[in-house]
Amino acid sequence: MRRGLLVVLCAALALLPAGCAKQEPAEPAEQDTLLLGFAQLGSESGWRIGNTESVKRAAERAGVQLMFTNAQQSQEKQIKAIRSFIAYQVDVIAFPPIVEEGWDNVLSEAKAAGIPVLLVDRHIKTSDPSLYAGFIGSDFLEEGRRAARFLLEKTKDWDDVRIVEITGTVDSTPMVERSRGFAELLEGKEKYAVLGTLSGDFLRSKGKECMRQLLKYHPDANVLYSHNDAMTFGAIEVMEEAGYIPGKDIVIITVDGEQEAIDLLIQGKINCVVECTPMLGDMVMETAKKLKRGEQIPKKLYSQEKVFSEFDEGLKSLPPRGY
Ligand code: AHR
Repeated sequence: MRRGLLVVLCAALALLPAGCAKQEPAEPAEQDTLLLGFAQLGSESGWRIGNTESVKRAAERAGVQLMFTNAQQSQEKQIKAIRSFIAYQVDVIAFPPIVEEGWDNVLSEAKAAGIPVLLVDRHIKTSDPSLYAGFIGSDFLEEGRRAARFLLEKTKDWDDVRIVEITGTVDSTPMVERSRGFAELLEGKEKYAVLGTLSGDFLRSKGKECMRQLLKYHPDANVLYSHNDAMTFGAIEVMEEAGYIPGKDIVIITVDGEQEAIDLLIQGKINCVVECTPMLGDMVMETAKKLKRGEQIPKKLYSQEKVFSEFDEGLKSLPPRGY
């Protein structure tokens, strides 16, 4: 509709006599406002809230008109939001898929409507990669490996490493890949044993429940690998209630890098923070604009991330994290 109107206006201007025609060259079509539909998956963690802020602020800065929805942890609601964007004929759809499976139908509808789709933060499983234009986010497999590399260094002189793991949402990309990358580097190393793994759904409250269960069945655990900060904060509360000293009795490796996690690292209650940045907004806007202009974009665009650990100096002078 909006494109049609622009064409009609241009045609009308072309018919004006030279004397009253506008002298400046016509605005290029790409100056048109980009209408972006962003179907956020929820607000389960400080990371996610930071991600929402990043998208909203970047849209404002880039002059992008943003239609933003929050699916409150429901795939059904996320699909519904994507369908409403298709009905609204947005220029580009972006979303972090809550889980990997189950997107083919709705993405085929977007494709049939000619609307490019950008996966943000998480991946999908599909036999048809043409259903999405590209992916922007973290390398979760590498994050899992980074967690394992810290553990290998920290425990090189230990006899027995008894690990408990709290994972994110079952069947989500960060859950699958963070587990896989971690396990890959420990494989075949006899002194490392994962005693128990539970899913805490990336929620602080469930991180607490999981840690309670894990300590009940594995009171001799000496390492916690937790897939996000929110669950780690819950787990630390439980450890302290149960009389464990976090960071000493139990070595803690967490993923994300929220300010609170860095503060706990400085206090010695966390040993390693594997960074996963939610600040993806600018990359999303830039890429969405390219898609609107019909340009090719890379199929995968990873953000640059670090590891912060007790081995680092200068943790106190890190700039504020912003999430
Ligand atoms: O997909 C990224 C993960 O989702 C973050 O690690 C976690 O905090 C969030 O909920």
